[in-house]
Amino acid sequence: MRTPLMAGNWKMHKGPGEAINFLNGLSDAVADVEDREVLICPPFVDIYALGRMLRKSETPIKLGGQNLYPAEEGAYTGETAPPMLKECNCDYVILGHSERRHVFEEDDSFINEKVKAARQYDLIPILCVGETEPQRDAGQAEEVVSDQIRGGLTDVEINSADELVIAYEPVWAIGTGRTATPDDAQAMHAHIRTILTDLYGEGIANGVRIQYGGSVKPHNVDELMAQPDIDGALVGGASLEVGSFERIVKFEA
Ligand code: PGA
Repeated sequence: MRTPLMAGNWKMHKGPGEAINFLNGLSDAVADVEDREVLICPPFVDIYALGRMLRKSETPIKLGGQNLYPAEEGAYTGETAPPMLKECNCDYVILGHSERRHVFEEDDSFINEKVKAARQYDLIPILCVGETEPQRDAGQAEEVVSDQIRGGLTDVEINSADELVIAYEPVWAIGTGRTATPDDAQAMHAHIRTILTDLYGEGIANGVRIQYGGSVKPHNVDELMAQPDIDGALVGGASLEVGSFERIVKFEA
């Protein structure tokens, strides 16, 4: 069975002081969680301190980056290399988030380079995909998501299901308080699993976790997680407070 992956994407929130306090609080709150994986993806400036804390503790919380640059090192001012994330105790990295696609104009081929770099350095990519509202209204949602997945995963070798996570995040649901209905989300997740089957075969496709993201909150997480192909959540706003993120991690489906 797929172990749910409950992830917080802090985006550009919390400096190191606040991040350390948060991790102390969350560690206590989820100490008894066993049947799900808990992940936080903080800003880069927090990662070293949090990585050290996690290395010394028994907590099941894992760490991920929000982005990377696809090179081992070099003259790339302002960027972060995959081995740096590894050294700071990251297991995961979010790639192709809609804010990267829309604010920073990243396209599928650049995201594809990043996914390859993540795999090369043994980081698990969380590849984010999702349609805009006009694309959904025009009936293009499945095609858009399919193109993003095939583009992001071109020539990416996946040998076991735990080497990849997909996050379906409809752009119109991110930070808006509007969530996809559980049925619409489930339909898209099933579609994504069909694409993964085509790319990697049924064995791997059935094991890859597909997260839902876009205004996941304590009040709607249970019905989303009850869907058979929703294997976790990528949570923005509601991951910034220990209490609300704890409730999301402890969903009841
Ligand atoms: P949100 O963000 O939960 O604030 O909608 C989700 C995301 O962008 O990953």
